[in-house]
Amino acid sequence: MRLAGKVAIVTGGAQGIGRGIALCMAKEGADIAIADLKVEEAAQVADEVKAAGRKAIAVKTDVTKQAEFESLYETVRRELGQIDIVVNNAGSASRPGNPFTNNVEEDWDLVWKINVKSIFFACKAIAPYFIDRKAGTIINIASIAGPMNSPNMPPYSVSKMGVVTFTKIVAKELAAHNVNVNAICPGILWTAFWHETAGRIAKAGGKFAGMTPRQVFEDRVNLLVPMKREQTPEDIGWAAVFLASDQARNITGQALHVDGGVVM
Ligand SMILES: NC(=O)c1ccc[n+]([C@@H]2O[C@H](COP(=O)([O-])OP(=O)(O)OC[C@H]3O[C@@H](n4cnc5c(N)ncnc54)[C@H](O)[C@@H]3O)[C@@H](O)[C@H]2O)c1
Repeated sequence: MRLAGKVAIVTGGAQGIGRGIALCMAKEGADIAIADLKVEEAAQVADEVKAAGRKAIAVKTDVTKQAEFESLYETVRRELGQIDIVVNNAGSASRPGNPFTNNVEEDWDLVWKINVKSIFFACKAIAPYFIDRKAGTIINIASIAGPMNSPNMPPYSVSKMGVVTFTKIVAKELAAHNVNVNAICPGILWTAFWHETAGRIAKAGGKFAGMTPRQVFEDRVNLLVPMKREQTPEDIGWAAVFLASDQARNITGQALHVDGGVVM
């Protein structure tokens, strides 16, 4: 029970990686707030957390809106008593198979808003509370797409490197207040995110023409992952549990690749 007595907020926790993080943290004793646009799916994950014996709430939140963080944190403190861990996981891909020469302004605006600005909002709103308590943990979900410098998804790749850079900046500022701030860079996971991305890659034709999304995904895993297996939401969840636990109290400003060796 590495997170007993703690309260964690997981954005984008209604499905995929966020759901994995929420369930792993609940298994380790944390109460959980799921903050997502998809409030019905978030409520189902909250039910799963409750079934594991923890308290849980679902809070409809749009992470692209700054004001929503103030009300999210207020709701969580009222319903669950405190906030110890903030996991900024909500994010979106940019259109795959689009080199920067094909990008349009909207491609960049979309991921900047959802992947980067949202984390600034989240950190800015929680910082005074964590500083006041002289305790807290922030975990930002970045991606291997940052360090891989992906020419097929430039806005996504740049946004996720931005997440890593901003993680280190916030870690430096909050270190003296006993707040640790780290990023996790997941590898390749079969979530709605990759289902949709692989579908778009197949539609773009070329070597992938006629493949199912799952076949495209498996091709990518075989080509890119030295350990030759896909990652799972639980892989990311257990890494997040570790970073949020006292075992990691001296780890800050790091980007942990959970990717079967892709970036290596
Ligand atoms: N799946 C992968 O292979 C992979 C790899 C590396 C990094 N990531 C990152 O992991 C995170 C989660 O990805 P996933 O694979 O679980 O994706 P997903 O699409 O399955 O889940 C994303 C969740 O975020 C929520 N969300 C989206 N926009 C939101 C907004 N404006 N406000 C609140 N919630 C919002 C969605 O409703 C959804 O529940 C993302 O940041 C993604 O970039 C995913």
